[in-house]
Amino acid sequence: MAEVASAVVIGGTSGIGKAIALRLALAGAQVIVAGRDAARGEAVAAEATRLGAPLARFVAVDVAEPDQVEALGRRVEDAMGIPEVVVNCAGILQSGKHVLDQDLAEDERIWRINYRGTLVGAQVFGRMMKRAGRGAILNVGSLASFAPLSLPSYTPGKQAVQALTGILAAELGPHGIRVNAVAPGYTLSDGLQARIAAGERDPDAILDTTALKKFVAPQDVAEAALFLCSPRAASITGVTLPVDAGWLVQAPYAHYLRGNPIRKGQQDE
Ligand SMILES: NC(=O)c1ccc[n+]([C@@H]2O[C@H](COP(=O)([O-])OP(=O)(O)OC[C@H]3O[C@@H](n4cnc5c(N)ncnc54)[C@H](OP(=O)(O)O)[C@@H]3O)[C@@H](O)[C@H]2O)c1
Repeated sequence: MAEVASAVVIGGTSGIGKAIALRLALAGAQVIVAGRDAARGEAVAAEATRLGAPLARFVAVDVAEPDQVEALGRRVEDAMGIPEVVVNCAGILQSGKHVLDQDLAEDERIWRINYRGTLVGAQVFGRMMKRAGRGAILNVGSLASFAPLSLPSYTPGKQAVQALTGILAAELGPHGIRVNAVAPGYTLSDGLQARIAAGERDPDAILDTTALKKFVAPQDVAEAALFLCSPRAASITGVTLPVDAGWLVQAPYAHYLRGNPIRKGQQDE
């Protein structure tokens, strides 16, 4: 039997969401791939079929429009019944800037997609799962969920996603629904590759900020996502799991070392 029978991956047309959709397909799940870009979405659905998904379809949705997420819910239920899993992966990245320079139109757009999109996805599919008395919701946080990164709209939004994950887990647990999040580190997704190509992220400097001295692969995040959504994580809910190549430990360790260097031959007293 498949580890996960049915799933919808919102933001499954590219990058991390695409890797999650394909990993679920490989595990034998029926998969609905949702996002705005039909050409990329249809291609992911075709690849999911090739990997063994018994049903794989693209459904167009803009998560900034709550009505469209409601319509997605109806399309999903018609196609596969109430899905066992929903992954809220739609999101946009931000260029670094100071809070005092933050443009409010950009702020509103980022919140609408990254936070409200996650909220509405959890509401639409959470209500359906409550009827079924089971389910797993997976949100996508970030390193920004844990640290004050210089991304004045993205960071607060991702901290809010972590908070929302905890509240949802507490409220939906009694209905047999688990709610977790993954927090990817620097992940070589299509989105991040575009930022690197535009000169907005420095790949060499990034490697140095991780304990493992590497980027996270989208497939690494997908493995964690499958685990959290599968019965193997039956007693895990409310967590935000970093998949970060050791960024969260490396950053404070390196900072501390700058002020308190370990000298050669130094002995404890
Ligand atoms: N890459 C990283 O280093 C990293 C690190 C931490 C967290 N994350 C998070 O991981 C998630 C995926 O990012 P990624 O790096 O994989 O970027 P990506 O390759 O650009 O993928 C972004 C996905 O979000 C979808 N999306 C964006 N706006 C949407 C909207 N309004 N409605 C519906 N779908 C929308 C895109 O689909 P369409 O274009 O088809 O709409 C695409 O499938 C985001 O939540 C991001 O914050 C990424």
